[in-house]
Amino acid sequence: MSGVSEAERVWWKEAVVYQVYPKSFRDSDGDGVGDLRGLVDRVDYLDDLGVDAVWLNPVYDSPQVDNGYDISDYRSIADGYGDMADWERLRDELHDRDMRLIMDLVVNHTSDQHEWFQRSRREEGEYADYYHWVEGSPEEPPNDWQSVFGGPAWSYDEERGAWYLHLFDEAQPDLNWTNPDVREAVYDMMRWWLDRGIDGFRMDVINMISKAEGYPDGGGEHFMNGPRVHEYVGEMVDEVLADEEILTVGETPGASVADARRYVGEDGLSMVFQFEHVTFDHDEHKWDARDPDLVEFKQILAKWQTGLAEDGWNSLYLNNHDQPRMVSRFGNDDEYRRKSAELLGTLTHTLCGTPFVYQGEELGMTNAPFETREDLRDVEALNYVDATIEDPDTAAESYADVRDAVEAIGRDNARTPMQWSGDEHAGFTDGEPWIDVNPNYTEVNVERAREDPDSVFHYYRDLIALRDRDLVVYGDFELLYPDHPSLFAYTRTLEVDGDDGESEGATERALVVLNFDDEPTTFEAPADVTVDGLELALANDDAPAVPGRSFELGPWEARVYLTPDDSDGSDATDRAEPTSADR
Ligand code: GLC
Repeated sequence: MSGVSEAERVWWKEAVVYQVYPKSFRDSDGDGVGDLRGLVDRVDYLDDLGVDAVWLNPVYDSPQVDNGYDISDYRSIADGYGDMADWERLRDELHDRDMRLIMDLVVNHTSDQHEWFQRSRREEGEYADYYHWVEGSPEEPPNDWQSVFGGPAWSYDEERGAWYLHLFDEAQPDLNWTNPDVREAVYDMMRWWLDRGIDGFRMDVINMISKAEGYPDGGGEHFMNGPRVHEYVGEMVDEVLADEEILTVGETPGASVADARRYVGEDGLSMVFQFEHVTFDHDEHKWDARDPDLVEFKQILAKWQTGLAEDGWNSLYLNNHDQPRMVSRFGNDDEYRRKSAELLGTLTHTLCGTPFVYQGEELGMTNAPFETREDLRDVEALNYVDATIEDPDTAAESYADVRDAVEAIGRDNARTPMQWSGDEHAGFTDGEPWIDVNPNYTEVNVERAREDPDSVFHYYRDLIALRDRDLVVYGDFELLYPDHPSLFAYTRTLEVDGDDGESEGATERALVVLNFDDEPTTFEAPADVTVDGLELALANDDAPAVPGRSFELGPWEARVYLTPDDSDGSDATDRAEPTSADR
């Protein structure tokens, strides 16, 4: 029935991935920190939502300087999260429900507590060159590179008497990918996890693994999408991933569409997380955020949609554990919290690509207040606050002067505990949570959302179900009205075969219209857009069953019109089903 070829069809294009930040998801033992048993306990919730896969942020052994992105042992589970038996239970509970498990792969750097680094600083045998070491005066770093978390990207190690590179915190030394032993050790570790039955990797800052030779002065151009990065990623795919039907998503800050085409089309990753649409509202510095401009936002997303249409695939996300909550950033988290959360979810589920839902997004969770510096936990935010206050060149004298910036863009916004109920600490823990719960938990929580048929949660279930349609997964994207200041509207189109596979086919269409504004607005179908035959599939307010050529939308109203599905569900039976071989 469908015109999608078998070669094109793959499970991770049809999937919706749910991202779990385990530290803040559900605590089972009352120590205030989320854990694997807590997550296992909520697998039915994810199943009920309808997602197909879980991406788990790092749960490996770690001193937790950067909440687990500083790994001290890749092959064991951090004490606070449980043990390998808990992890296996999680994998099995997910697989029993036909959900996949995607693990975080953090191989640009390790923790300074990793055995490799400990041996490297002692210059033990093959480990001596596992990291980027440069000798020189302890007074002067090898170059002017700055760490993503602020301050110089080099620290002097007294023990070895040399500088080592860390593009993130000083406790996160960068691995030396020019060393083939390092690459083999990483591939070995990846095979070890694949042998344990995982279904994919999310690859942390994978486009930063290659640094310019000789470490020239300058900025990201010397270590983002660096000179040998495609060689390394391609090699990793050939050596480890080529025969696996797994999902691989590379986190690639600063990557252009052309870069992404290479990571996906040539190197063989399934997709990347691009950053353009979550950085365009920063001024020079991440902490100088402006209100995002819709026209610019549309232009960026449309460029990625069309740029990867032929030989690539998009990931679709508006928030994750590093970004503020989408409804606070792109929506209206006050008067129109529900509607704008639903509208933004409509966008990420009806563009072409694989949607990623970040925990709590399906409730419309918002940014949180951080009244004092003591409320913050994120190393990046704390560095920024302290450095800004100490810097005599800034006007900031106390936390009060930087609070707005932290509350607008800081990563802790995403990391407040998942809001399960109106009980104390939002039902996240019986103890003291490691980070405060957002005070709006009494109103915004899973228990209430499940009881309320009009909640964001129920809307998300409908959105996820919409993706049973090939049209919604594979249809071609076309932006309408690129310059309209409040409407984000587009069509999706898919040619389908006749019923017998031979007779003349038909064209299936989708029309998605979103009003990104507190004021009503009018949509008028452009002359070349067919609305005949379209029927309402989903809306976040009352809407007529057929569109007409022109209609009014209220504040933050979202409508999805589709060619009706007359395939009696046969469409769904063609889908890429999980096979035991994939596992
Ligand atoms: C990625 C992670 C982020 C982490 C950083 C260093 O950007 O998403 O949370 O701090 O890499 O590993």
